[in-house]
Amino acid sequence: DKGNHRHFMQKEIYEQPVVVAQTLSSYLRPVEEQVALPDLGFDLSRIGRVAIVACGTASYVGAIGKYWIEQLARVPVEVDVASEFRYREPVLGPDMLGLVISQSGETADTLAALRHMKAEGVTVAGIINVPTSSMAREVDLLLPTHAGPEIGVASTKAFTCQLAVMAALAVNLARARGRLNPAEEAEIVRQLAEVPAAMNAALAHDAEIEAMAPTIAGARDVLYLGRGPDYPLALEGALKLKEISYIHAEGYAAGEMKHGPIALIDDQVPVVVIAPSGPLFDKTVSNMQEVRARGGKVVLISDADGLAQAGDGLLASIEMPRVHPLIAPLVYAVPVQLLAYHVAVAKGTDVDQPRNLAKSVTVE
Ligand code: F6R
Repeated sequence: DKGNHRHFMQKEIYEQPVVVAQTLSSYLRPVEEQVALPDLGFDLSRIGRVAIVACGTASYVGAIGKYWIEQLARVPVEVDVASEFRYREPVLGPDMLGLVISQSGETADTLAALRHMKAEGVTVAGIINVPTSSMAREVDLLLPTHAGPEIGVASTKAFTCQLAVMAALAVNLARARGRLNPAEEAEIVRQLAEVPAAMNAALAHDAEIEAMAPTIAGARDVLYLGRGPDYPLALEGALKLKEISYIHAEGYAAGEMKHGPIALIDDQVPVVVIAPSGPLFDKTVSNMQEVRARGGKVVLISDADGLAQAGDGLLASIEMPRVHPLIAPLVYAVPVQLLAYHVAVAKGTDVDQPRNLAKSVTVE
C-alpha cells in the first residue's frame, strides 16, 4: 500500500526518519550514551582487518564504512563488489572479520562470497534487512536492519538503515580496540540520535527539489562529486539517477575531476556537489569552482555555512541542517534520493519498476 504517495520509492524515502530511528534503537543505549551491538558471542578486539562484500547500493554502504571504521577503529578495511571478490583470489585469514551487506539477503554474488569466506574459516557478519533470508541464516553474526519491506526496485530506506548499523559497528569496533573514550562515544551517540530529526529537515526541501527536477531531466549526462565518506554517496547518487531516470550519470571523488572527467564539462552538464561544511569543504569547493569556470551547472548540497561560503553562480542549492561530518552521508542521502526520484517522475519513467532491473538479483 502506497498510502498518500504516488510511488513506493517516494513512500520509502519518507519512511526513513522512522525506520532509521527503529534501526538505531536496537544499537544505541541513549541513557548510557553507548553503542551496543546484539550479543555477538565474539571478541571484536581480536579483529586485524575487515573485508566488506556487497553489490550495488549496499556496496556503497561498505565504501562509506571503510572511511568510518578506519578513521574510528584504525582497522584496515577492504571493500569489494561481490561479483569480483572470489575471482581476485583475496587473501583471507583468521584475523579477518567478513561483512556482507544486503537488503534482500538473497543476492547471488553476495551469498556466494559469504559462503566462500566461511569455507575459508573467516567469521562473517551480515547487515541484512530480510530476517528470513539465506544470508540472515548463514552469517555467523546477524546485524539486522529494521527498514521493513522495501518494494521500490531502487534501494532507499535499506541504504540509510544499513549506514546506521555500519556506524554502530564502527563505534563498537573502535571501543573494543581502545580507540574511543566514553566522552567521544557519547558524542557520536548523540549525533546518531539526531539523524532522524535531521532527515525530517532534509525532507522539508522536497518541493524545492521537485521544482528543479525538470531542468535536470533534460540533461544527457550528470556528474556527482563528493569527498571522504561523501564520495561513495556521490556514486550512490549517480546509480540512483541512472537506474530510474535512464540519464547517464557518474560519481567521482571531487579531486579526481581534473584527472579526466572535467573534459566532459560544458553548460549542458549538471554537476551535483555533495559538500557538508567540515574539514574537506574548502577543497571540494575549489573543485566545484573549476567546474563552474567551465560553464558547468552546479547543484550544491551543503549546510548554511557551506552555502554562504560557496557564493553564488550556482544552478541551485539545497540547504541541509548542520550535522557532524561523520553522519552527513545518512542525512545527505535524502536530497540525493529525492533528486533522482523527481527527475524520473519528470521524465515519466516507471519509477518503481525500472526497465531491465529486478529487485533481487539471484543469478551470478
Ligand atoms: C540500487 C539497488 C541495487 C541493490 C543491489 C544489492 O538501487 O537496489 O544496486 O542495492 O542489487 O541488493 P541487495 O541489497 O538485496 O543485496
